[in-house]
Amino acid sequence: MKILIVGRGAMGLLFSHYLIDHDISIKSRTNSTSTTFSFTNINGLSKQCHFNSAFDTETSNADCIICCVKSYDVSTVIAKIAPYINNQCPIVLTNNGMGVIEQLQQKLNITNPIYALLTTMGAKRLSPNHIIHTGIGKNQMGLVSGSANEVQEDLINILKSSIPSFTYSEQIVTLQWQKLAINCAINALSAINDINNGELSNLNYKSTIEDVIRELIIVAEHEGVPLNFDNLICTIYDVIDKTANNSSSMREDVLKKQDTEIDFINGFIYRLGQKHKIATPTNAKLYKQIIDLTNSI
Ligand code: PAF
Repeated sequence: MKILIVGRGAMGLLFSHYLIDHDISIKSRTNSTSTTFSFTNINGLSKQCHFNSAFDTETSNADCIICCVKSYDVSTVIAKIAPYINNQCPIVLTNNGMGVIEQLQQKLNITNPIYALLTTMGAKRLSPNHIIHTGIGKNQMGLVSGSANEVQEDLINILKSSIPSFTYSEQIVTLQWQKLAINCAINALSAINDINNGELSNLNYKSTIEDVIRELIIVAEHEGVPLNFDNLICTIYDVIDKTANNSSSMREDVLKKQDTEIDFINGFIYRLGQKHKIATPTNAKLYKQIIDLTNSI
């Protein structure tokens, strides 16, 4: 199976490293010709990974696309390669947050099978060609749009045998909301306070995390997705613990003065809250704080 990985940021290179023994090619924004990167694992051991760069031919020949760009870039990046994508080719999205699939369907009229791959793994780019694996986590994938075709079974088998803690789920919508809850609780708070994920286990943050989740549960209920408060809080503290030394993606974006995924995380809850006429003051506050923070730097 020919796999096209789109994006060579921390997550793109993390997934590329796991899939390096397969027929992968990596497409980057700059069409970089560099074909090597260093990967440092969670225990500090490093190795060199070699890969092919992807151009239009590799895009046309791809049997599967794994899109590893931030939520705010997905529709732009997919729009650029859309003319070359075979309409049966599954597209796997790894971005945080929710709302991207609707953008792809509305703006681009994409009918390919689309999968969400929800990851709680952490990785950091030390330089353009060196990443470090900073947090172990789970990887859950499911079909979110379009219909499965004959490629699905091969794809799932490859991902299961290559990516740690990988499972395929038919309950992907509930899992998307659970992952959204993790990001709503961790990302903005860690960015605003400029702290690693582990510091969020401090009791000072408990009431904010709980309020964020209470609001999210009410919004999810209005979207037809029942969620359990105690289970979510337990999962969130488990992720905080397992990624304790990780600097969240939003904190990294703020530190690098880049766009953040806030529109697709707390901003998504805030917008849906407005649609359903539900007050979401804690999510709204975090949303506005991140907007202010990114506008001020
Ligand atoms: O966005 C992130 O940083 C990650 O999704 C997570 C799981 C919060 C770990 O840092």
